[in-house]
Amino acid sequence: MNATAAPGVALDEQAAFLRTLAEKSDGGKLRGDYAHADAAYVVTQDWPACTPAQHALWRRLYARQAALLPGRACAAFIDNLERMQASAGIPELAVASIALQQATGWTLVAVPGLVPDQVFFEHLAARRFPVTVWLRTPEEFDYIVEPDIFHDFFGHVPLLFDPVFADHLQEYGKGGLKAMPLGGLPYLARLYWYTIEFGLIATPAGLRAYGAGLLSSGGEIAYCLQSPAPQRIGFDVERVMRTRYRIDAFQETYFVIESFAELFEKTAPDFTPLYARLQNLAPLAANALLPDEKVIAPT
Ligand code: PHE
Ligand code: FE
Repeated sequence: MNATAAPGVALDEQAAFLRTLAEKSDGGKLRGDYAHADAAYVVTQDWPACTPAQHALWRRLYARQAALLPGRACAAFIDNLERMQASAGIPELAVASIALQQATGWTLVAVPGLVPDQVFFEHLAARRFPVTVWLRTPEEFDYIVEPDIFHDFFGHVPLLFDPVFADHLQEYGKGGLKAMPLGGLPYLARLYWYTIEFGLIATPAGLRAYGAGLLSSGGEIAYCLQSPAPQRIGFDVERVMRTRYRIDAFQETYFVIESFAELFEKTAPDFTPLYARLQNLAPLAANALLPDEKVIAPT
């Protein structure tokens, strides 16, 4: 999802996670063209139809964002982004997919936009990452409501080249399918939000961003690391799963991992008893701080 702050209505986090075909969080139609999608919501990316103006907009988005990465994005993200050589224009997903498959066995599939939960999880569980095919308009340079190809590709794909992160995301997909009949999706949504989209990582050089929503955002990438306003606390699965979030503003809390191995290991246990426990616990506000919690200083 997109990460930049925008004026507008406060959207409920539950609604935000409803990846339904016909509706999005504000009740409007999803933006993509779903008419030609197959049963897995996969489409062909009509790359030759991308206009020079669209490629130019991609280059502008890429250049602005790439300049913000040093000292802010984790090293694995920066290294793998460079290796993808995607600065010159909208990438051809089938081509980018070849290098990714060689690296970690993941492939990219083109989709019209948000897809239903189960479809999303099935793709991840099969090491396929769904990438939205449309690009925002120039007027949406700083903010889009639904994820576009810039967010999905620039924000998410580089870390799919990292073996541990890649394995974690597959486990997340499998975990999603498992959680559906257990009523665990609201909790898994919060986990995804506070890690894959808005996660921070502590490195020897300092705090860095690894969440795609941060890495594709012109404003929140600096805010999440440097602003004294939000709180940063150590990653804990149950704490994250209890914590609500807002989709219309910068985050009020960021959760900090030490390594992708920590993320993998802490999410490996069977979540079945955890979901049962969470169903009887009140959720925490996005800015809650529990008595025993220590905040981590900004960089
Ligand atoms: N370990 C979780 C379970 O058993 C699955 C999962 C793995 C969920 C990784 C999220 C991330 O349900
Ligand atoms: Fe995203």
